[in-house]
Amino acid sequence: MILLTGGAGYIGSHIAVELLDAGYDVIIADNFSNASADVIKSIETITGTTPAICQIDLTDKSEVERMFQEIKIDAVIHLAGYKAVGESVREPLKYYRNNLDSTLSLLEAMEKHGVTQFVYSSSATVYGDPGIVEYTESLQFGAASSPYGSTKEMCERIITDVAAASELSAVFLRYFNPVGAHKSGLIGDDPDGIPNNLMPFITQATTGKLPELTVFGDDYPTRDGSCIRDYLHVVDLAKGHVSALKYCMDHKGVEAINLGSGRGTSVLELIEAFERVNGVKVPYKIGPRRAGDLAEYYASPAKAEKLMGWKAELTIDGMCRDAWNFAMKAH
Ligand code: UD1
Repeated sequence: MILLTGGAGYIGSHIAVELLDAGYDVIIADNFSNASADVIKSIETITGTTPAICQIDLTDKSEVERMFQEIKIDAVIHLAGYKAVGESVREPLKYYRNNLDSTLSLLEAMEKHGVTQFVYSSSATVYGDPGIVEYTESLQFGAASSPYGSTKEMCERIITDVAAASELSAVFLRYFNPVGAHKSGLIGDDPDGIPNNLMPFITQATTGKLPELTVFGDDYPTRDGSCIRDYLHVVDLAKGHVSALKYCMDHKGVEAINLGSGRGTSVLELIEAFERVNGVKVPYKIGPRRAGDLAEYYASPAKAEKLMGWKAELTIDGMCRDAWNFAMKAH
């Protein structure tokens, strides 16, 4: 049984689908604070399988311990956590308390119950601003750009220390920019309130839910002046977790692995692809730069391919098509 924390969320629900399709038994642990129970029905519709659900506060050590007593867990994929960069700057304690406590509770219960495989959801944000555009895992941690980013780095450090003192085998998956949705249109990124990330902003500006998108800066030293990121289809990202789980089962120790395509796309290029593929107009204007944004970065995806045999397969056009298909079905 694979314990998938945060499995009702945007990324977690796609991982649940890939795990179930690959034949794993899955228990989703989620407090549904930032996810809807309907997602579970959608996972069932897509896979024809019902995942077990545990509605739980993962920061509560006794609740986590009870879950491990009741269910025989073989491995953990840990995504649950707060993830809004701006909010983390305004409410740092909320982020440190939640993201650290949940990871600690899980690690303690795993140690007690002899569970030795752990896949952790990390972020390219741990690299900080290394001064180069292609990020390899051999780079040191950079100065954290937000409390959210600090929690990712701290959890990586905690897991590394625990693994050094035990049989724990762990993979940190450092995500670049996950976008898109499942091709069924049943699960996808549907944030409450004003979105933080670019793709849900594009879809909501296009449906009219938001008046228009602001492109944060067109005076960066890039090919068209807008920022360049490494966008990755969420289904590719989800498959990366299945590969990481298999890797953990066969290898001891700790590895940090980038999940990205290795390809940079600018904000304006993404808008152009979205309009072309979907035959729509994205209402947008050029605005000032957003504080903290870097001009350009993308993943070196070589380690993921070498160690896990994983590489991104889906295209920018596919990401745009699937994101729009989901937005059309959801509204
Ligand atoms: C952000 C976080 C990163 C986090 C990741 C996943 C920052 C500085 N970084 O990455 O730590 O791991 O999300 O949640 O917040 N953009 C616009 N207009 C918009 C929104 C975004 O032009 O309305 C641009 C941004 O300038 C950026 C690109 O779109 O160049 C992607 O932005 P976003 O989706 O927020 O991701 P990141 O900033 O790359």
